[in-house]
Amino acid sequence: MTVISTTIGQSVSRIDGFAKVTGQARYAAEPHPSGMLYGVIVNSPIARGRIETIREEAARAVPGVVEIMTHLNRPHTALFEKSYVDGLGVPGSPYRPLHDGEIRFNGQPVAVVFAETFEAAREAAMLMEVDYERWPHNADFEVALHQKYMPEKPRSNYVPPKSRGKAAEAYALSPIKVEGHYHLAPEHHNPMEMHATTVIVEDDGKFTVWDKTQGPQAVQAYLTSALSLSKDQVRVRNPYVGGAFGSGLRAQHNVFLAALAAKMLKRSVRVSLTRQQMFTHVFRPEAIMDIALGATPDGTLQSMIVEGVTDTSRFEHNMENLVVWGLINYKCPNATADYKVVPRDTYTSSDMRAPGAATGVNLFEMAIDEMAYACSMDPLTFRLHNYSDIDAMHDMPLTSKALREAMLQGAERFGWQNRPMTPGKMRDGKELIGWGMATGIWDAMFSPTSARARLTADGRLHIATAASDIGTGTYTILAQTASEAFNIPLDQIDIELGDSTLPQCPTEGGSWTAASAGAAVWLACQSLREKLFKTLGKNSNISAWLTEGLRHNTVVLQDGFLKNTDGDEAFEMSLRDALSLTGQTELEVEETAKPGLRGTISQMRKARFTHSAVFCEVRVDEELGIVRVTRLVNAVAAGRIMNPKTAASQVRGAMVMATGMALHEESLMDERVGRFMNHNFSEYHIPAHADIPDMDVLFVNEEDTEVSPLGIKGVGEIGMCGTAAAIANAIFHATGRRHYNLPIVPGD
Ligand code: MOS
Repeated sequence: MTVISTTIGQSVSRIDGFAKVTGQARYAAEPHPSGMLYGVIVNSPIARGRIETIREEAARAVPGVVEIMTHLNRPHTALFEKSYVDGLGVPGSPYRPLHDGEIRFNGQPVAVVFAETFEAAREAAMLMEVDYERWPHNADFEVALHQKYMPEKPRSNYVPPKSRGKAAEAYALSPIKVEGHYHLAPEHHNPMEMHATTVIVEDDGKFTVWDKTQGPQAVQAYLTSALSLSKDQVRVRNPYVGGAFGSGLRAQHNVFLAALAAKMLKRSVRVSLTRQQMFTHVFRPEAIMDIALGATPDGTLQSMIVEGVTDTSRFEHNMENLVVWGLINYKCPNATADYKVVPRDTYTSSDMRAPGAATGVNLFEMAIDEMAYACSMDPLTFRLHNYSDIDAMHDMPLTSKALREAMLQGAERFGWQNRPMTPGKMRDGKELIGWGMATGIWDAMFSPTSARARLTADGRLHIATAASDIGTGTYTILAQTASEAFNIPLDQIDIELGDSTLPQCPTEGGSWTAASAGAAVWLACQSLREKLFKTLGKNSNISAWLTEGLRHNTVVLQDGFLKNTDGDEAFEMSLRDALSLTGQTELEVEETAKPGLRGTISQMRKARFTHSAVFCEVRVDEELGIVRVTRLVNAVAAGRIMNPKTAASQVRGAMVMATGMALHEESLMDERVGRFMNHNFSEYHIPAHADIPDMDVLFVNEEDTEVSPLGIKGVGEIGMCGTAAAIANAIFHATGRRHYNLPIVPGD
């Protein structure tokens, strides 16, 4: 008997890897329908004002140019109605591309040139002449600070901070105080695949939209409402996504403009953004956090006061859960937090890998390090001393929290016990060596999801759900789940994702897909097995052993065969034969996994988070101030790990991103024009291979039966939370100098 080697928990390599490395995986800008037009967007070079005149003669004279779409000639659709609400956007007055002649941000699309070739469209776009009336603008975060406000209608995922005790009084009375004014620079999304849309106008006039998105059904819903189309007129596909990290959560203007043009021109079109155009939107908000901590000399936190702001546009209210994390994660009798947003004349900031926590956890963990030192206490010991076993902000029990184990196991792996407490004590030649640590916390979520399981005449199992694999390994872990649930070898399974016509699945994001889609697939496979057995049981032509076995519940699926476990005769039958016995060409079920399934909690009676402990070694060149990260260890507690290989890759990817946050990534605003000026990889720095050391990721055993039916909490974003702080804290340990601004760059 062969043993299934592909079940949940095994390190299986990506099943989509071959398609990706051989170029068979198709991305949003790759389909090439016949007669397709290329659209190139013309962006506003001013931040605020009004279009006076648009002169198109030179552009229209370029051979191959078919149409130029502006606010003057674009068709009217529901998006331009006053009552329109962008269901994927954030509260406020939704951004409406090509709505009118008003300019609300630098980089705003003012025209889209469509031509038979990309080159013609680009040349014509450069020849467009637009005159503007300029109005005063402010793109300076510091200047806008006095306008900070709390939106009347917060974002739906916003968690309002909850105070406890008397934080101000307790702070005043605390013998030990630290106070820091922290800042995080804005950072831009730079996935390998940039935002792009190909709209294929099918023969019947329906649209097949290939879009770079994290949610095909969300984009379908967006397009049907924005363009007043019925659901069956729009199919959205994204079978492969070249990294997304949150920029694909909302519909970007390329998808609307491409679909609008397809409607106007009745032709297939493609609109893809350039790397530079990516820098006109999709950025993590700039943030300021003021953190004050009070403690007693024995290292017991007495008070936490956190105030934070992030930027948004003048027309939409983007919000983050920035200030709550420390209040949730640490035991401390007095705590309060306040959060506001700051309006600027820019595009709306957006979600980027662990939005809110990536900023809020890292900056807070830098403050905790400073407090540990103020109490002359080892930073790990300090955290263990102030450990909370509950969600301390909501005074709510947790489904699980193996952070203590993560801290201890991570410390052991790293060799933390050999760390001298005093900074600047370790050196190698001209390089100072520092060791720092921090902890991470991120939501563990589970959303209702449906999946289909179908057994076909060839004995193969087909799984389908509208999930997106944004590079995270979703294809692979869902195949593993199906393999375990149906007890069938991995190579007999086909997974179909990334298509709005498939069973309902929430947009990929928030690290909830593994838990949610995993549960749906598991459920569908269980249900398909029951259906198979039931259908066979109704059939009088099956052999005696099977009739008897089904009657006595002794028939099982094993390695893709039906077997009778009773009696000494090992009868077995292939799935193909079993299906043909049923007289049907295929058997299919669709199931929906909802909270409450299998004893998971259906209401917010408990709080649910993933946790991590990150340890870092840096070397700082004493003369040049150049920082090298030389070692990173991340111990993650995220429930059951479906695939240690892909999960560790997720965590590593986030750690790379966090290294960028700590040391490299910084979008710099030219306030005079209101545009991010370092809009390319020579000036916007991201970590390169040489910047990244060996990263050691370990998963701590954590049993959680309440977040999701399979015990999964999800990984990915957790790798972002804490890593930047561990690097900053290591730099302090190397140099004895505190930094309050990320990224930390030479010269700071
Ligand atoms: Mo998540 S913000 O979609 O990485």
